[in-house]
Amino acid sequence: MAPEQIQTREHDVPKASPLKIFIAASELTPLAKSGGLADVTAALASYFDRNGHDLRVLLPLYGSMDTSVLSIEIVPELEGMEMPVGGQTVAYDIVRARAADVGHDVFLLRCPDLFHGEMMYGGYDEHVRFALLSRAAIEMCQRLRFAPDIFHVHDWHTAMVPVYLKSVYSWDSLFKQTKTVLTIHNIGYQGVFGNHVLPDIGLEGSTELLDAEDLYYGRVNFMKSGVIHADLLTTVSPTYAREIFEPEYGMGLERRLRERHGSVIGILNGVDYEEWSPESDTLIPNTYTSEDLAGKEKNKQSLMAEVGLDYRIDRPLVGMVTRLTYQKGIELVQQALPDLMRKKDFSLVALGSGEHDYEQFFEWLIREFPGRAAFHRGFNNALAHRIEAGSDLFLMPSRYEPCGLNQMYSLRYGTVPVVRATGGLADSVRHFDPKTGQGTGVVFHDYDANGLLWAMNTALKLYGNKHAWKQVVHNAMQQNYSWDEQGAIYLNHFRKLLANGTA
Ligand code: GLC
Repeated sequence: MAPEQIQTREHDVPKASPLKIFIAASELTPLAKSGGLADVTAALASYFDRNGHDLRVLLPLYGSMDTSVLSIEIVPELEGMEMPVGGQTVAYDIVRARAADVGHDVFLLRCPDLFHGEMMYGGYDEHVRFALLSRAAIEMCQRLRFAPDIFHVHDWHTAMVPVYLKSVYSWDSLFKQTKTVLTIHNIGYQGVFGNHVLPDIGLEGSTELLDAEDLYYGRVNFMKSGVIHADLLTTVSPTYAREIFEPEYGMGLERRLRERHGSVIGILNGVDYEEWSPESDTLIPNTYTSEDLAGKEKNKQSLMAEVGLDYRIDRPLVGMVTRLTYQKGIELVQQALPDLMRKKDFSLVALGSGEHDYEQFFEWLIREFPGRAAFHRGFNNALAHRIEAGSDLFLMPSRYEPCGLNQMYSLRYGTVPVVRATGGLADSVRHFDPKTGQGTGVVFHDYDANGLLWAMNTALKLYGNKHAWKQVVHNAMQQNYSWDEQGAIYLNHFRKLLANGTA
């Protein structure tokens, strides 16, 4: 091929140039975490950074953050910032931080008046805090003259960024080319406030951008506003991306989502296998591989000793690591498990916290089945690793599950997931068929006690069949949900959006 031809071709198909990406979020592991959202924002940020993109990340500096592990640097352009809130002014700074386990800089919004105390969420001024985070992200771009190609926002806390770009900041040509992407991690949390907050959040003059019916009923809904105005809507699994169009899962946003039908895509979350791999996990007593599972049985013994359970050879251990909320199907466990524990020989270890009723249920279970049921209230990352590594089965009977990460960890640890076919659970676990030897777990469909009972009985039977059990464990451990593939899907959609102007 003649050199000029090569040149022409290179010109026609420009090598993918780095993108300018701004991530604004309320959580990012390991700095601020209440759930899977933090793991995903961290994984995405690190993926974009590793792949040479020009990244800025902003999150709040919470009162609960351990700043001693951070090196914080003042950024002169980002000092002495101010935001009008109602009739008053809130003063804040944005600082640059480096953390040991984070490969890139993170910017932190420092406003002790608003982000104080232990709590990340809740409180009477929550709307102000997250409106501030969203506006601070935009003003940070202005002060740094950083024109993002993609403004990537996550869940309701930063879902107002697209609205602000179309209202308060619409005059600024810095954002002329900017496209906004809202990733929905959980539509069950929308950030709904009385519309008296409009002056506080600076949108009293922009009501035409907000949902008229909400305003009529005296409400403003952050997530819904993002759903209306973001250029692209993503959610964290393909199945959830279909489910949220239905009233059962859309939580009142289904109509608005249907209007944006062509702009909604589902991208399954990935797993950070550097943290979650049984062959290299430093938080478990014995590492193991799919070829040599001896370490797994030892992990089971030490986990059971640790949580006060009696170990019996061939008695399966069921693990649960979960927030104890409406979403997670705990009511099915309440309805079905005690009776099943009376009839069948297995043990249960659960880790999590949340609604009082559910916590009480697990406390009761310990008393009812001494030596067979254990419950640790709270969250403990190291114990979560030991439960993944030491259990035989992992139970996730979710009512809905945008993606879910624990079932993917379970697969890698050869801990056979028992899941309900919803959201990311449906996309990552295939029901095992003993006839073909295909499949990676036990999957049930109906959200009721019988569904769960069927699944548990099927799983316990499978455990009793040595040959089939070996096969399903092996299949599970071969699954690969790494971020390399999933991160690339985000980037492809970002580029498509930038090239076409719409999703
Ligand atoms: C939320 C969802 C969970 C998802 C996570 C990360 O916590 O409930 O299903 O895996 O966000 O996207």
